[in-house]
Amino acid sequence: MDIRIYDSPAEMAEKTAWSVASLIRQNPGRLICFAAGDTPLGMLRGLVRLQEEGGCDLRSMYYAGLDEWIGLGYGDKGSCAQVMKDAFYTPAGIPPEHMCIFDGLAQDADAECRKMEGWIKARGGLFLTVLGVGMNGHIGFNEPFGPDREGCFTIALDATTRAVSEKYFGKSLPVTAGITIGWRTLLTSERMFVLASGKNKASIIEQAFAGKPSSAVPASRTQEHGSLVVALDKEAAARLKNG
Ligand code: F6R
Repeated sequence: MDIRIYDSPAEMAEKTAWSVASLIRQNPGRLICFAAGDTPLGMLRGLVRLQEEGGCDLRSMYYAGLDEWIGLGYGDKGSCAQVMKDAFYTPAGIPPEHMCIFDGLAQDADAECRKMEGWIKARGGLFLTVLGVGMNGHIGFNEPFGPDREGCFTIALDATTRAVSEKYFGKSLPVTAGITIGWRTLLTSERMFVLASGKNKASIIEQAFAGKPSSAVPASRTQEHGSLVVALDKEAAARLKNG
C-alpha cells in the first residue's frame, strides 16, 4: 500500500489527476471506474483540464459507473449519474457508447447488475478504479458487513449513508437502497486509488488503513489490493502514524 499525503485537497486532486492521466496514456482503450461523490470532483476536473492541454485522451477510455441510489436517475440532483455526467462525462466528451452506468430508475435492478457485469467482462475487466470512502467506511455502496462476493448487487443503505445523503440532494430524500459494483470485483481492477480529504474523514481513514482489513469497514478491504495507492490530504491523514 502506497500512502501519499498532500498538503491540501487541491494538491491531492492535481497529483492524482497526473498519475491517472499517465496511466491513461499508457493504457488506451481500457476500462475505468470512477466514484462519484464530492471527493473525486477536483481530480475529475483536473483530468478534463489535462485533456484540453493535450495531456491525455479521456475519450479513448471506457467507463463503468460505480454505483447509484435506487429510485434516482439523471434528472435527480445528487444522483451518481447526474454528478458524473455533469462533472466528467459531458465536459470530457465521452461518447455514450464508451460508458455503462446503473439506471437507478430501472424496474429490474437485477438486470442492471447483469448489464454491468457483462460490460466489465466485455471490456476485459477493470483496469483502474478510483474510489472515495464514506463516513461509515463504505466504498461504492459496499456497506459495512455487505455481501462478500464478486459481481454487482443491490443493498440496503445503512443509517450513516442515508443521513449523509442529504448533502448531495440539498434536501432529505427517502433513499433506502443502492446498486453497486461489489468490492471483490473492484479488487480485480489492475490499478486502484482510494482518495479522502478533510478532517471528518480522519477517523474512518485510521480505521481503514491503520489496522487489519475487516468487513466492518469495507474500505479496509482495499488493503488486499496489490497496487493500492491511498491519496489523502493531511487532514484526512491526521490519525495515521505518518500523517
Ligand atoms: C460515490 C461512492 C461513495 C462515495 C463515498 C464518499 O459514487 O461510491 O462510496 O465515494 O460516500 O463520498 P464523498 O466523496 O462525497 O465524501
